[in-house]
Amino acid sequence: ARKPRVTVLGGGTWGTTVASIAARRTDTLLWARDPRIAEAINRTQQNPRYLAGFDLTPGLRATADLVGAVERADVLIAGVPAQYLRAVLERAVDHVRPFIPIVSLVKGLEQGSRKRMTEVIGEVLPGHPAGVLSGPNIAREVVQGFAAAATLAMPDHHSAQMLQGVVNTSRYRVYTSEDVVGVEIAGALKNVFALAVGFGDGLGAGDNTRAMVITRSLHELTRLGVALGGRAETFAGLAGLGDLLVTCISPHSRNRYVGLELGRGRPLEEILASMNQIAEGVRTTAAVMKLAAGRGIDMPIAREVDAVLNHRQPVEKTYRGLLRATPGH
Ligand code: 13P
Repeated sequence: ARKPRVTVLGGGTWGTTVASIAARRTDTLLWARDPRIAEAINRTQQNPRYLAGFDLTPGLRATADLVGAVERADVLIAGVPAQYLRAVLERAVDHVRPFIPIVSLVKGLEQGSRKRMTEVIGEVLPGHPAGVLSGPNIAREVVQGFAAAATLAMPDHHSAQMLQGVVNTSRYRVYTSEDVVGVEIAGALKNVFALAVGFGDGLGAGDNTRAMVITRSLHELTRLGVALGGRAETFAGLAGLGDLLVTCISPHSRNRYVGLELGRGRPLEEILASMNQIAEGVRTTAAVMKLAAGRGIDMPIAREVDAVLNHRQPVEKTYRGLLRATPGH
């Protein structure tokens, strides 16, 4: 039998990394919007813009031709930023083979609609099993082959098992789940809370503050996630606590970085303009607040993040009383 043909949409850090993993067992093609990235991957086996210096799996091929990339696929994996996924799928829709499974790698909500990525996939490509792969997965560590794990949630056990075989390796351990809603909500929300932890770090608050914010964040995340239909145990697992932790503590997290720079007093627009990547939490926070309001759920930490990002509240106000006490005060 021929190897399954996997197409990964999105040549950013995580799309590239997952494509590199999938290329070990399958015939994998990575679609990058920018032809220069596709060309560089084919020529050098590296993604110089997002993962400079890290070798990708030999055999991974890349293209900037979206139609050609999707029409061959037995499996589609989507690593496009949350606010662009719908538009990319709409360009691809007439060329996707019927019934093939689609896996989202995206940790964000669509801003206007407040929808999860599998809901967006379901609207543009109805009839496809749609799920999500998510966990504590800093791309540069995974691409180097350090041990990591993630949860793959699909609506049915059969496609979960089939897809587990596509992305599981001895160093990247993939557990299956049927809680698509819980895994997606966990991935979207942890970015909001990583911004909050970044505020504290930028202001010079200490480890007590960080631990308090992470712990209370898990509580908020679980409350909203369960109200939206996720399972409580999902939020205690890799896609919940696991990813919340890594995003709140890693120096490589983009969301924590944005929070940190805001805490240091830099304006949001300037921080975002200086990055060549997207911190999903920035656009997802407003959608989270609306989802919480719709369910009558109080989310004090997310509310503070929303106030800083969307209502120009100074970070110091957010953290008043939580700052490291000045000696003599
Ligand atoms: P950032 O998007 O904040 O870099 O988070 C990385 C991540 O999702 C790790 O699992």
